[in-house]
Amino acid sequence: MALKDYLVTDDLTILLGLITASTFLLYNLYKPQSLVHPILLGRQSDVARVRNPGESAVHRNYGTGLLGRFPIRPTREVQTLLDLVKPEYDAPRTLWSTKITNPQLRARAEAFGTGLLRAGLNQESNVLLLLNDGLEFLITDIALASHSIPSFTLSSPSLLSSVLDKHPPTAIVIDAGFLPNVLELIYDTNELAHHVVIVVGEPDRKALAEAAQHIKLVRWADVEAEGKVGQKITSPAPDPNDVFTVSFYEDHEGRLQGAQLTHENLTAGVTTLRGLLPLTNPLTALDTIVSAHSMSTAFGRTIAYTALYEGTNFATTHGARLYKSDDTYVPPGLPDLFSTKSLPLPAPTILFIKPEHSNALSAAIISRAEKSLLFSFACAPPCLSVTSPPWSLAFASVAS
Ligand SMILES: *[C@@H]1O[C@H](CO)[C@@H](O)[C@H](O)[C@H]1NC(C)=O
Repeated sequence: MALKDYLVTDDLTILLGLITASTFLLYNLYKPQSLVHPILLGRQSDVARVRNPGESAVHRNYGTGLLGRFPIRPTREVQTLLDLVKPEYDAPRTLWSTKITNPQLRARAEAFGTGLLRAGLNQESNVLLLLNDGLEFLITDIALASHSIPSFTLSSPSLLSSVLDKHPPTAIVIDAGFLPNVLELIYDTNELAHHVVIVVGEPDRKALAEAAQHIKLVRWADVEAEGKVGQKITSPAPDPNDVFTVSFYEDHEGRLQGAQLTHENLTAGVTTLRGLLPLTNPLTALDTIVSAHSMSTAFGRTIAYTALYEGTNFATTHGARLYKSDDTYVPPGLPDLFSTKSLPLPAPTILFIKPEHSNALSAAIISRAEKSLLFSFACAPPCLSVTSPPWSLAFASVAS
């Protein structure tokens, strides 16, 4: 058959062709706008006109309707920090190295909270957390928040002496390894002398003997064990506008600042973070979020609670540890990013990292790609996106 036989057209062919073309056009014209977060679509958000000197621009988005209120909670039921640990969600997932379900996590926080109250804490108390990220941090945080006992966190250990000085806490929860570094400081703060210091892990014998002469030292595990027996103590549910934590940090002039955060601030933070994730499918216990931001910062805490809320596996990198006690040095960049490999976690699917990790990661990918024969046909480095396995998404946040 000659070529021209194929090209024979009649009215029907033309009609079908027209219908196909119009369907294609209509489909493309009337396709609904994608539901990408408005911040990612520059035109849907704008910079507020009013701005105080020294403040960065505040962006307002129209995603909520013109002049509407920003969403402050992921769903209506989520009012407080505790609600972010959905009781009905009972799929086990791994937090650092512990496989745990939400009901188990709540039960442990309930026991620890009861133990804290039995140890003499009450709503007038406030508790300084000198803890590296881990399950104990979360349990302590949830327990304190459910009894409306405010916690203090420091964005850097260097703030310790000024916080002890200006805002002496009633109790301190501290990693055993870091205890020797702060005993002196604690003795100097006279008000603390008769208050409780709760130690996570096993302190070394010398520190223990020395501390025993000055302060009341209890083991974290003992507080939890104490709370497990007998009747659990419950407190009235906190109000979403109650301050549950004070996050201390240093401003640009080196002055001590404290941000009071309410339950609503945290649920709003979680809502925002979820909005940043271009999720086509909901996250599950098969996902793993790895963060390089310490939970002692407001941002790091929000990431951890987003992971809790979504029911994913979660861990923080070695570099997120603020209270370094051992000599295990992990270089920044890729080695730090891979520091969670020693944990029993599935490969990360979402990373909240810092610029140094993101740079190291893209450099590693490019240098690997350069070894390929096809590299010269591929695009130049700037259009390389970090979507290759094992990460489906990588977020480099600019917070340092
Ligand atoms: C926390 O929420 C209150 C309102 O509940 C708001 O005024 C304040 O600015 C928020 N704080 C931060 C740090 O976003």
